Amino acid sequence: ANCSNVFINILNVYFTILNWIMFSCGPLSSYTVLPKQNGRVAIVTGGTRGMGFETAKHLASLGMHVIIAGNEKDEGKLAVGMIQQEDYKGKAEFMYLDLTSMKSVRQFAQTFRDRGLPLHILVNNAGTMLVPERQTEDGFEFHFTSGRPGRCSRIVNMSSATHYAGIIQMGDLNRRICYSSHGAYAQSKLALVLFTYYLQEQLTAGGFPVVVNAVDPGMVDTALYDNLWSLTMIPTPAEGASISIYAAAAVEMEGVGSCYLYNGEKRRSADDSYDHELQVELWKKSCELVGLKTA
Ligand SMILES: NC(=O)c1ccc[n+]([C@@H]2O[C@H](COP(=O)([O-])OP(=O)(O)OC[C@H]3O[C@@H](n4cnc5c(N)ncnc54)[C@H](OP(=O)(O)O)[C@@H]3O)[C@@H](O)[C@H]2O)c1
Repeated sequence: ANCSNVFINILNVYFTILNWIMFSCGPLSSYTVLPKQNGRVAIVTGGTRGMGFETAKHLASLGMHVIIAGNEKDEGKLAVGMIQQEDYKGKAEFMYLDLTSMKSVRQFAQTFRDRGLPLHILVNNAGTMLVPERQTEDGFEFHFTSGRPGRCSRIVNMSSATHYAGIIQMGDLNRRICYSSHGAYAQSKLALVLFTYYLQEQLTAGGFPVVVNAVDPGMVDTALYDNLWSLTMIPTPAEGASISIYAAAAVEMEGVGSCYLYNGEKRRSADDSYDHELQVELWKKSCELVGLKTA
């Protein structure tokens, strides 16, 4: 098991670097002029720092009421304070959400629903990378617990070029048999793309006016690499966030779903992500794991 762990780690570092070289070129400038979003409501998970913070800030600058959902109250307060000190039309607030706890996810959803606010944008941004083997209180592998979407107009799922190296181990999604932090991260990002396409299919079939897209920010200099190495000369969080902001607010993305977006363009995602059987199987398995009935 140790040997294959080392091999998977080497393979995944290789893919990460390859993807960096292949995909992280070109300036991540803003791709479009974004319309005002006055009165609209957005939730940004992991909006306390990094790209999530930049996304929340930008959406507030467009006039949105942004809810930063995170698991560190002090960091949340700080982020809200930084956004509020700008003279924006929109506003920001913090709501507690720990995505590694199903109880917390359900509580967050209930509290939000009780407030009777509409939800126009959900940015599933929160994530950790390359953490040592760890389980959540519900027994899930740490990387695999990502945001669960609610009902809104646009859902943005933060994936990564690392998904190209992802392998779904359906029989061991929590990676208990042979843990590799790179393998677990890559699997979680591929799962997000599979999930994006299948969710869009379900929403369209149900007649819901909601679009879902996966985005890839390239390699961005954030705290995410705390578990890996220190990087310089790569795009800033504000530059990286521009792809989430684009998917969340650009006029040309109105009504457009099922895309994998990189650098303001639709790109082909990993071949496996288009595997419909795999999408269905992962959807069913995920529902089963969190105790939801499948549609
Ligand atoms: N940086 C890159 O090069 C890169 C490339 C491709 C994709 N991405 C993806 O982009 C997203 C944002 O990452 P980033 O680079 O901006 O990293 P970051 O600065 O580390 O931000 C991650 C955010 O997620 C939050 N978070 C982590 N676990 C959470 C949990 N259990 N519950 C609630 N919030 C949680 C963090 O808050 P706390 O610290 O308070 O937990 C933080 O606000 C991630 O999904 C990442 O996988 C990043």
